[in-house]
Amino acid sequence: MNRIALLFLGLFAALAASWTGVILVNQGSVGRLARVVDANEGVAFPQPMPGLAQQGHLVYQDLGCAACHTQQVRRPGFGIDDKRGWGERHSVARDYLLEPRVLIGAQRIGPDLRNVGQRKDGQEGRDGREWHYRHLYDPQLTSPGSVMPPFRFLFETRKIVGEPSPKAIQSLLPASSQPPAGHEIVPTVRAERLVSYLLSLKDSYAYPEAANVYVAKSESQGGTAAEGAK
Ligand code: HEC
Repeated sequence: MNRIALLFLGLFAALAASWTGVILVNQGSVGRLARVVDANEGVAFPQPMPGLAQQGHLVYQDLGCAACHTQQVRRPGFGIDDKRGWGERHSVARDYLLEPRVLIGAQRIGPDLRNVGQRKDGQEGRDGREWHYRHLYDPQLTSPGSVMPPFRFLFETRKIVGEPSPKAIQSLLPASSQPPAGHEIVPTVRAERLVSYLLSLKDSYAYPEAANVYVAKSESQGGTAAEGAK
């Protein structure tokens, strides 16, 4: 009888300890995190994702992009993410506050994507949308030797009926990928959503808990913290 009581006591202690470790400690450290209201800009950060990007977040989840990509820039001293140019600062818990499902990922076969929206901004003269379409259609076009699979099913080759679509992308593709005469290649709705999501990935707001590293970095680059606060 005594042994059974001891067994239950042991079980209870083990469960209570893991509940404290997994739930209570985390609740204590990040459970009460709220958005930061920037008095100068009159807005709260993090800002909600635009609607199309929110839908793209689901496409990203569905297609398993997180199997090869992380979305967490590590602190200096924990790897060399800062030197790789994967973000102006390391990621903090507050960055993920409004995300319905946090897709941090587990392994990095490809680069971290937490700030890919910022990295590709300005590519090919625009916000990077064209770069992403070319890359998703065939990663070899933008990144020769890439092991990322093509996501060609996100594009549709269709007959041009009437006016050609302003969204058609075949002009971005080489001669070998051209559609038959009278046809065009257009991104599907899923592709548009996914790319809107990728374009929205930029964490650059200097939260108090991210500021130390941030200030040190921008000072070492000869700038001021305020300049980099965007
Ligand atoms: C099998 C692993 C794998 C999967 C799955 C994968 N990727 Fe990649 N990805 C890579 C590799 C490797 C690179 C680096 C070479 C390149 O640019 O293609 C990369 C590069 C990228 C880049 C460019 C990053 C940069 O900084 O230049 C983006 C954007 C990207 N992937 C998005 C996606 C999206 C969106 C998905 C899901 C639809 C996805 N990847 C699925 C391996 C993968």
